[in-house]
Amino acid sequence: MKIAVVGTGYVGLVTGTCFAETGNDVTCVDIDVQKVEKLKNGIIPIYEPGLDILFDRNTKAKRLKFTTNLEEGIKDAQIIFLALPTPPGEDGSADLKYILKVADDLGPLLEDYTVIIDKSTVPVGTAEKVHERIARNAKVEFDVVSNPEFLREGVAVEDFMKPDRVVIGTTSEKAQKVLSHLYNPLVRQGNPIIFMDERSAEMTKYAANAFLATKITFMNEIANLCEKVGANVDAVRMGIGSDSRIGKRFLFAGIGYGGSCFPKDVQALAKTSADYDYDFRILQSVMEVNQNQKTKLIPRIKEYFNGELKGKTVAVWGLAFKPYTDDIREAPALENIKILLSEGVKIKAYDPEASENVRKLIGDKIVLTDGPYSALENADALLVVTEWPLFRTPDFDVMSKLLKNKVIFDGRNLFDLQEMKELGYTYYSIGREA
Ligand code: UGA
Repeated sequence: MKIAVVGTGYVGLVTGTCFAETGNDVTCVDIDVQKVEKLKNGIIPIYEPGLDILFDRNTKAKRLKFTTNLEEGIKDAQIIFLALPTPPGEDGSADLKYILKVADDLGPLLEDYTVIIDKSTVPVGTAEKVHERIARNAKVEFDVVSNPEFLREGVAVEDFMKPDRVVIGTTSEKAQKVLSHLYNPLVRQGNPIIFMDERSAEMTKYAANAFLATKITFMNEIANLCEKVGANVDAVRMGIGSDSRIGKRFLFAGIGYGGSCFPKDVQALAKTSADYDYDFRILQSVMEVNQNQKTKLIPRIKEYFNGELKGKTVAVWGLAFKPYTDDIREAPALENIKILLSEGVKIKAYDPEASENVRKLIGDKIVLTDGPYSALENADALLVVTEWPLFRTPDFDVMSKLLKNKVIFDGRNLFDLQEMKELGYTYYSIGREA
């Protein structure tokens, strides 16, 4: 099939590349001239494991192309994906200006029946709005479908090629047929394509992210309570996770969720609720608890140094909002660093992938090191923020020699409590005894 993908961010690029991999002829369109130039020269602007192999194979086979010209990009396309940003507006609702602008531009360009797909996370009712905007100028038949993505950064290619499910929101049988054909190679193991109406598909995406954010937040609250009552959240996690109704995944307590999706989507769903005069109380709590959780270790650090933080040096392991990404959007590390800097603390930080992004943002305010151990040299304490596997089994002897004090504040529960005790560390983690 001939496919166009408008927007070459992380969702658009993964979508375009993976559909080229299943044999389609894909053209990706973006207004960012420099980005398109890079892509044409084989440079992928994001870090996403495994994407490079598929990208190389399909660009070489000329199944994956790039352009800044919308008309050229969508020529003869049977399917057009809209994978455009929906940043939160001032009131928390998703801003649709990019999507609606492209919808306006698309109308007069359509030459034959086309399926236009909202891939971005958009508020309920957006498919109808997009339909209305295209219809203003369109001379041919078309359908607008909501087909939300459930990709996780860091494993996006795997999630795309082997989805747990594909959600397709359209009541048009014609569009359903086109999309069944398109997704057929990805659902051969029996994982379902779930058809529903547009509004339910749009809601499904928000419900999934808000549920997962709530699940994590619930565990973070259990962890906070574990600390008070002298229980261990790791044991509790295993104890409840083995109940198949609860499930083992997404139960890891830590210093809060971050990233470009959960915070934005929880906020947007809360806004939608407010717009419909519904008081979605859990969401308000999730946002509040997560905000507090992100900086939960700061009082511990202060306490350890008897309130005297000025002039201290703190080593930070992990800057990305989670492992296997260079994404620092809403990253807990940044909030902790900001507070520590304001208290006069010097920061030496290391991240395997995200350092460059942090350098652009606050490179003049902190020292970024080229390895985990160099961050520890002459540091007064270590703060662990991201659970990169590299940090899980470090050489504690080397660490003891480098750190001025044997103290670790661990926001991701990487280390064993007993081992830390035996090694003589003062060790603070989340939901486990100090
Ligand atoms: C999330 C969803 O998992 C995807 O299904 C969805 O497609 C995507 O948002 C999106 O809307 O685009 P992502 O933001 O890449 O994906 O990251 P996750 O792996 O879901 O992690 C989100 C946050 O939760 C991270 O900060 C992570 O550290 C935190 N987390 C996750 C925990 O604190 N505990 C856990 O047990 C799991």
